[in-house]
Amino acid sequence: MAILVPFVVFVGLLCSLLVEVARGDGSSSGWSNAHATFYGGSDASGTMGGACGYGNLYSQGFGTNTAALSTALFNSGSTCGACYKIRCTNDGQWCLPGSITITATNFCPPNNALPNNAGGWCNPPLVHFDLSEPVFQRIAKYKAGIVPVQYRRVACRRSGGIRFTINGHSYFNLVLVSNVGGAGDVVALSIKGSGQSDWQAMSRNWGQNWQSNSKLDGQSLSFKVTTSDGKTLVSNNVAAPNWSFGQTYTGGQFN
Ligand SMILES: *[C@@H]1O[C@H](CO)[C@@H](O)[C@H](O)[C@H]1NC(C)=O
Repeated sequence: MAILVPFVVFVGLLCSLLVEVARGDGSSSGWSNAHATFYGGSDASGTMGGACGYGNLYSQGFGTNTAALSTALFNSGSTCGACYKIRCTNDGQWCLPGSITITATNFCPPNNALPNNAGGWCNPPLVHFDLSEPVFQRIAKYKAGIVPVQYRRVACRRSGGIRFTINGHSYFNLVLVSNVGGAGDVVALSIKGSGQSDWQAMSRNWGQNWQSNSKLDGQSLSFKVTTSDGKTLVSNNVAAPNWSFGQTYTGGQFN
């Protein structure tokens, strides 16, 4: 018995580790603790727009599976597009079984007028998810208001390629990068016009909007996307030379 028990525990640990690896979601360290609330109304209309710059979350394919992150996770917008699995914990009265997977699409700002344990849920250093109301109600009862949760990063599953929406004007190209699979959060973006020989690094303007001050009109455009897991994907000639501002062009996708 004395030998068998540690052996069984060891095999159990090994199995759960193998399951994590097989899932390939980049997280083997398991779950961390946080809290969750909800916002945006029962139709999630109030979650549209937001600090990541995605605009209409329905047309971007996120639907209502979204969350605003507190300062501790938001990372000045660098975490926009990351995916988390979340489950309600430690509260049989308010929790519902199962888990949800959400994408970070907004910022939950601190409210320094309120204490951290009474309304200032998003104040640093608290880790907090302000979920869209419909997705909150899949893991907890509406009346709970706020629940303890556990979360972990998971790979983002997207259909179709990475989308590049080109806004701005000549000498000020503002490119929104969306529908990014894998790690999901873009940490570097480069652009190359067909008339150029080198990649140019773009700078983060806000959320997942990246800026270049070059004149790229009339050139076909290629993009190089790097996500927080260090993976880089080049999409060549995503936009033909007749590209125009306000349009969205689709490139490749991370596996
Ligand atoms: C732009 O060029 C591409 C390929 O050269 C062509 O398929 C497309 O129809 C053109 N689009 C417009 C709006 O002219």
